[in-house]
Amino acid sequence: MSKTIEFSADDIPRTHPQLPRTLYWEGGADGQLALLDQTRLPAEVVTLPCRDAATVWEAIKMLRVRGAPAIGVAAAYGLCLGTREHCDAPRDQFLTAVDEVADYLNGARPTAVNLAWALRRVTAVAKETEGDGPVLWARMLSEAHAIAREDAERCRQIGEHGAALIPEGGRVLTHCNAGALATVAYGTALSPMYIAHEQGRRFSVFADETRPLLQGARLTAFELAASGIDVTVLCDGVGASLMQAREIDLVVVGADRIAANGDTANKIGTYSLAVAARHHGIPFYVAAPSSTFDLSVANGGQIPIEQRSDDEVRRGFGTETVAGTARCLNPAFDVTPAALITGIITEIGLLEPVTAERISGFFGSGG
Ligand code: MRU
Repeated sequence: MSKTIEFSADDIPRTHPQLPRTLYWEGGADGQLALLDQTRLPAEVVTLPCRDAATVWEAIKMLRVRGAPAIGVAAAYGLCLGTREHCDAPRDQFLTAVDEVADYLNGARPTAVNLAWALRRVTAVAKETEGDGPVLWARMLSEAHAIAREDAERCRQIGEHGAALIPEGGRVLTHCNAGALATVAYGTALSPMYIAHEQGRRFSVFADETRPLLQGARLTAFELAASGIDVTVLCDGVGASLMQAREIDLVVVGADRIAANGDTANKIGTYSLAVAARHHGIPFYVAAPSSTFDLSVANGGQIPIEQRSDDEVRRGFGTETVAGTARCLNPAFDVTPAALITGIITEIGLLEPVTAERISGFFGSGG
């Protein structure tokens, strides 16, 4: 390897001193990716060291690391790990390996666009850089560090733009986990809550448990409680009746991919919350960085929806809970139409109303 890359996990802000870091690079050019294994939470805080692309692929596939921005950062580092052994090959062969490892990692999960976005960024710097394998590889690792650092910055900015939406005494409903654990720091949907909390505002959060993998009960409750924010876990069906009883003031969720017209893919169950929120006249916000927008898809119908194993429904955490030969359906995401979304909180500001024109004005032709 040509030279050591100067980078420290301490360069990245911590969401709260009590919260373990989601993922970070340890060491220099011969270092490794450290991932908090989220399948073990909340019972155990275990860090998984990754030294090759296969370990990162498996971690993404099995949701050891999950949440759209975190998947992107993990994949960027995974691409560095998977190509490190090819550094001494001629430039063309090195670049072929970059494409192959990027394709492999991109196949781990289909819905969150941050995965492809981060891999494209790291691949592009390799191709644009002059020189041989070690020089290209060093640039790739710097780019992965930049993606990680930017993710924390963008999430913090999302929180700064969104905090004012949470009133004193407010009751906020969220779904799945779009918090610090889904990003490098702060999260997207939870970032306005962290910032409002820092500002001294008092409010309470309802976290849907989020069947079948319980990201809300296991992860959102874990990180909010560790940070001193009042949180109550709800079974997934409860939210609509709390809205009916006027016990929810706003809904804030994350996103896995936002189409050019604002249709938003997020964890299964998000759409039904949006329908209920509209019925009850409750504001429904999506929070996401620009890396989650995919302007190459015109609308939500074009977003690929991951179908996961029926075992996750049948015997999610060990106990068989589905009778006999009944089949299970396990789509991991659904699409909420833009018309049901009050606004999208981004690192640039609040995008409201959610229309194709507003989105293209916001991001120009990029995204
Ligand atoms: O299957 P998961 O746990 O990766 O799903 C995560 C979500 O749906 C999040 O809401 C989304 O990725 C946004 S994370 C900031």
